[in-house]
Amino acid sequence: MPQSPSSTREIPEKGKIPRHIAIIMDGNGRWAKKRFLPRIAGHRQGVEAVRGAIKACIEQGVEYLTLFAFSSENWRRPEEEVTFLMQLFVSTLEHEVIKLNENGIRFKVIGDLSKFDSKTAEFIRQGEELTANNTRLIFTVAANYGGRWDIMQAVRKMMIHSPNLLENFNEADLSKHFAMSYAPDPDLFIRTGGECRVSNFLLWQLAYSELYFTDTLWPDFDANALDLAIKSFQQRERRFGRISEQLQNMPVEKGMTTIAAKKKF
Ligand code: IPE
Ligand code: IPE
Ligand code: MG
Repeated sequence: MPQSPSSTREIPEKGKIPRHIAIIMDGNGRWAKKRFLPRIAGHRQGVEAVRGAIKACIEQGVEYLTLFAFSSENWRRPEEEVTFLMQLFVSTLEHEVIKLNENGIRFKVIGDLSKFDSKTAEFIRQGEELTANNTRLIFTVAANYGGRWDIMQAVRKMMIHSPNLLENFNEADLSKHFAMSYAPDPDLFIRTGGECRVSNFLLWQLAYSELYFTDTLWPDFDANALDLAIKSFQQRERRFGRISEQLQNMPVEKGMTTIAAKKKF
């Protein structure tokens, strides 16, 4: 039987730290409601949890952290909440990009930036450029992102750049046009806030990610909560279609961190 041309062929060694963690940060509104605060207070507190997650990922030796900040569907929220979220995004970037750079973190944004005003889009571009050579952690924010949008825009780009491929193209021809083509697929997907759905996040890339759902609301998600998620991941046997007995003799994917590379933030 020929090998499938699927990109999910290599097996990371069991028990390793995930190279790439992708998180749906959910539950800000409910965190605020429990405290009789307006929803926006939950979003503000959510930014603190982002800082904590970045620090904890560096300490654990995670290479890529991707956070879902605003989905292509979140425009359907009340206008004042959307406006607040946009302002919070921009003001947080203004404060944090320099600090990210000082800490050796590369900053990336994925999503349809055409809906952002030109000043914000330019600011994002500058932040990406400033931090482009940093390697300590690749930190990606998904803003106005949708997994279906990503697949559609990749198909569109492939059709424009390589019209000759239309009759016969493979996964690599398409996936190089995805917004996050610079990163390996997430090893671990986390969703806080108790909902068990993917909400149009990285649809293609999550094909073989380990899924972890927690009731913890995003503003309460701290280093300890991340550690629990990683410990759960480390118990999983990733078979990618095979049976357990086959895994002993499999080539191991290069680049997974063996021991948590404890780094000071
Ligand atoms: C996630 O928290 C933040 C964004 C979607 C921007 P929510 O705002 O969805 O919080 P809940 O789900 O209403 O508690
Ligand atoms: C998903 O959260 C998007 C982000 C966290 C940015 P939502 O709270 O908007 O998800 P749904 O729409 O309830 O699934
Ligand atoms: Mg929500």
